[in-house]
Amino acid sequence: MADFVGAVDQGTTSSRFMIFDHGGNEVARHQLEHEQILPNPGWVEHDPTEIWERTRSVITTALNKADLSAADLAAVGITNQRETAVVWNRRTGRPYYNAIVWQDTRTDRIASALDREGKGDVIRRKAGLPPATYFSGGKIQWILENVDGVREAAEAGDAIFGNTDSWLIWNLTGGTDGGVHVTDPTNASRTMLMDLETLDWDDELLSFFNIPRQMLPQIKPSSDPAGYGTTRAAGPLGGEILLTAALGDQQAATVGQVCFEAGQAKNTYGTGNFLLLNTGNELVRSSNGLLTTVCYQFGDAKPVYALEGSIAVTGSAVQWLRDQLGIISGAAQSESLARQVDDNGGVYFVPAFSGLFAPYWRSDARGAIVGLSRFNTNAHLARATLESICYQTRDVVEAMQQDSGVVLDVLRVDGGITANELCMQMQSDILGVPVSKPVVAETTALGAAYAAGLAVGFWKSTDELKRNWNEDKRWESQWDDRQRERGYAGWKKAVDRTLGWVD
Ligand code: G3P
Repeated sequence: MADFVGAVDQGTTSSRFMIFDHGGNEVARHQLEHEQILPNPGWVEHDPTEIWERTRSVITTALNKADLSAADLAAVGITNQRETAVVWNRRTGRPYYNAIVWQDTRTDRIASALDREGKGDVIRRKAGLPPATYFSGGKIQWILENVDGVREAAEAGDAIFGNTDSWLIWNLTGGTDGGVHVTDPTNASRTMLMDLETLDWDDELLSFFNIPRQMLPQIKPSSDPAGYGTTRAAGPLGGEILLTAALGDQQAATVGQVCFEAGQAKNTYGTGNFLLLNTGNELVRSSNGLLTTVCYQFGDAKPVYALEGSIAVTGSAVQWLRDQLGIISGAAQSESLARQVDDNGGVYFVPAFSGLFAPYWRSDARGAIVGLSRFNTNAHLARATLESICYQTRDVVEAMQQDSGVVLDVLRVDGGITANELCMQMQSDILGVPVSKPVVAETTALGAAYAAGLAVGFWKSTDELKRNWNEDKRWESQWDDRQRERGYAGWKKAVDRTLGWVD
């Protein structure tokens, strides 16, 4: 058998290809950003063609860097930004519209009508999700209603939908020449269209959005020995390889963090933050604003579910300091600037740019910086930005503990901001629990590689994967309870100020 497994990680800001060895060590990677298209306030789009071209390019470059070819890969897995909706024509391969990104709020009227019309609770019960702009269903409805010719083409079976996993798998397996139209239950569980118990598209849910069933991809297990399809020799891998895994990126990170036991949780710090708690084969319904979602389905085993706390804006708040305010030149500088002061100087920043996700689910919220006095500087704002990442995490940890009764003894973390020592120390201070980071912090791509490799016997069992996990660094809280509760009370007051801002 070949010595390596490959993984495509198609994220919100970039696409990367990574190659791992049997020990779960990184052998090579290449990554390219793509444009964030912001045509109107609250709208966020990506160009699907650019994403496909960038993906082709990162695959080829990573293979070249490692001097490897398709024959060296036992299998390939795909992981992706979830919810982002692409609708394309299966005959021409052309997208009808830009991908509507998970952060996009243009569907707020569609989302709020669902509760008014009494459909919200059906979605909560069947799909495990509160009606919100975040998920794919409303985005597909918007494209069907606003882009000429799409509804007719969808009825005729020519316009098809996918998240970026489906889009890339379709292209990698031949596109207009026999491309395979598939997804997995972790991605499908983010659409508001799949029943969490049957793991199939649900006609009643489809009717709420008026979406023709033939638009939707076939749902296959997240790790599938039969494979989703085979890559084309003419494609970027330069050979025929079985694609054996697809997982939404947050679920992939849960697998990469080897959270295979009920009660284990991980928190990924990316554009947003996503905290997932494995709840085993049990579907736990949230009473506190968390999502119930599929964690993974390996082969013909029963699906494993998760409770998820999704936070829309964390890393992208740091990007905002860089790109829109220009007060830092890069992510690392957010740490050095914030270190110039000992505390937030009374300033709280609630980056509710896409409304507030978990546990609030308030699309009428907008960002606010509060508590300012003339004393405050850029350094306080940088510190408040890093704190906002940690306080939003505390909000979802509290909700998770209430829903599940699981009290965290440690928080496993990964993702870009975990390189920020100050932010990780603040996270432990604000939560009052230790924070632990693994040696291989690229857990998203690693999780997709694990799922792909398990399918072909490259790894024999999840126990083998657990032995690959090693701690790199641990942060312990340095705050006392009084300091922690005072800080959190300030945060809650600041959150209150952002609610109801948009009519
Ligand atoms: O639900 C959105 C999430 O999947 C995006 O993750 O890391 O691409 O920002 P990321």
